[in-house]
Amino acid sequence: MNAGIISTGHDYPEGILTNADLEKIVETSDDWITTRTGIKQRRKASEDEYTSQFAVRAAQRALESAGISPEEIEIIVCATTTPDQILPSTGCLIQKEIGAVNAAGMDVFAACSGFLYGITMVESMIRTGQIRYALVVGAEVLTKYVDYTDRSTCVIFGDGAGAAVLGPVEGDKGILATKIMSDGRYEEQLYAPGGGTKLGTTHDTIDNGEHFFKMKGNELFKVAVRSMAGISKEMLAKTGYTVDDVKMVIPHQANQRITDAVASRLKVPEEKVYSNIAEHGNTSSASIPIALDECIQEGKIVEGDLVLMTAFGGGVTWGGTLIRF
Ligand code: ACO
Repeated sequence: MNAGIISTGHDYPEGILTNADLEKIVETSDDWITTRTGIKQRRKASEDEYTSQFAVRAAQRALESAGISPEEIEIIVCATTTPDQILPSTGCLIQKEIGAVNAAGMDVFAACSGFLYGITMVESMIRTGQIRYALVVGAEVLTKYVDYTDRSTCVIFGDGAGAAVLGPVEGDKGILATKIMSDGRYEEQLYAPGGGTKLGTTHDTIDNGEHFFKMKGNELFKVAVRSMAGISKEMLAKTGYTVDDVKMVIPHQANQRITDAVASRLKVPEEKVYSNIAEHGNTSSASIPIALDECIQEGKIVEGDLVLMTAFGGGVTWGGTLIRF
């Protein structure tokens, strides 16, 4: 018996930060952002909103759609790089809020690949019968880790959460192949140096903005394209499928040009590659589950469809999952 995604849900803040808003904050333009990234707006949490709130609402929507009670969930994996706090984990906070009294709760730190990391972890637990139902959530409030004086990062990131309920599925459905990878040699291509045990929080680290995300976007771009295209091909080769068999490719929404380059390497037509980056920006670990839920709600993915998901993020990390719904 395979493990499959039974249902999905998503949520995001009401606040919107448009390219026109950013033009007033840093030296940039709607034209630059649109041409270089494809982003027109992103969701932005208010001062008193935080990651687990969006995660909880996304999780509740996924549970409702599955018709599964919180008590039936045996593990909650929350993929996030922007947790509410260091301790306890956001997974535990979600567990409390949704009343999943029989679940273990934990976080996965794998940046934008976190959702596929979570999927890959729980897949074998379900397939081997160790557990029946799992909740995997990708949730971020990235805008609180963004330096709004650094135009190379502040135009990219947005906030939101997506969730999926996974459980056993019959026949040829479910996760057919899944793989996660990392290469820590690229650690300084996207990192936040301050606030940990290496560079603890001091007045100086805060004054120097060491707690903010720093990114070498140009270098990451090439690694992102290579990694996502490579692992996607591997997932297809492993299962004997081709891109023609795939109904929809859902790549991590990092940058429209990265998505286009991956699509071109896979030789998959534009209409088969989902993109919502114009509305959401890059929501890191939330990007794939938000996109997946939108596809399902819009009827772009229906029962029997083969879907390829691929992600890339800071670490660097990457992953690929081929699934039949
Ligand atoms: N507005 C105007 N000009 C800008 C802006 C801006 N917002 N940002 C940078 N520029 C300028 C630069 O200063 C540079 O000017 P210069 O030539 O005078 O030095 C010029 O534009 C080109 O800069 P590049 O960095 O080369 O621009 P690029 O085309 O690479 O686009 C971007 C930058 C959008 C960041 C792109 O590299 C990218 O998307 N990279 C990948 C991001 C990614 O995948 N991250 C990992 C996943 S996210 C995660 O894990 C949380």
